[in-house]
Amino acid sequence: MRLIFLGPPGAGKGTLAGLTGRRYAIPQISTGDIFREAVKKETELGLKVKSIMVRGDLVPDDLTINLIKERLACEDAQKGYILDGFPRTIPQAEALSSFQQIDAVLQFNISDEAVIRRLSGRRTCRACGAIYNIDSIPPKAAGICDRCSGELYIRGDDRIDSIKNRLEVYEQQTAPLIRYYQDKGLIRDIDASISVEESMQQVDRILQYEL
Ligand code: AP5
Repeated sequence: MRLIFLGPPGAGKGTLAGLTGRRYAIPQISTGDIFREAVKKETELGLKVKSIMVRGDLVPDDLTINLIKERLACEDAQKGYILDGFPRTIPQAEALSSFQQIDAVLQFNISDEAVIRRLSGRRTCRACGAIYNIDSIPPKAAGICDRCSGELYIRGDDRIDSIKNRLEVYEQQTAPLIRYYQDKGLIRDIDASISVEESMQQVDRILQYEL
């Protein structure tokens, strides 16, 4: 199964991609996670993308495309994968189609208001990347990851000015992908405004009965 999870920031793509990846034994490939790891390790890539990410702008296409090309060549991606946060522009989607065939694009539908609420309460584990929300999906102990006891932190791009910019960038540069993939008959709709369990049932239905 070669899947793309497409939707605005904070729609729950990472949360559901993690669950889906574990349930169907395919890797979740998140360009955001790859960039954040590079920033944390202060690699050459990390130094290049740090300020772009904090502002909520997009990393240049050539850099992102090369990175995903390398990642998809890895052994664990040969039987399928979930692309979480890629592609995000038409040139990225066109590049992807030149070396991969995608089975479905799950489009996450949610309002801007709900996204702003969710991102304002997001907490992420510094060690394992698990995602929580202080309102809707709280950890058992405040500030500590249930899975690995790592420290929970607020992402640098979860400040309100950055969230608003990310929503604008999504509208301008990423939303055109919906039409692009509709024309290819690949779009499947997910209601991302409901609970994680209910959205996951929609994902299961699509993966088990529609593909
Ligand atoms: P990236 O990490 O991909 O961020 P994003 O797309 O903005 O998405 P988020 O991670 O913010 O949200 P999500 O949809 O995964 O939601 P989550 O599951 O966390 O990218 C970051 C940056 O990297 C970009 O801005 C850009 O600079 C760069 N970048 C990455 N990819 C790029 C590319 N291809 N090209 C160029 N640049 C790129 O959930 C959000 C919150 O809601 C959490 O608190 C969660 O617990 C909660 N939640 C989730 N589901 C539910 C639910 N059903 N009910 C209640 N709460 C929920």
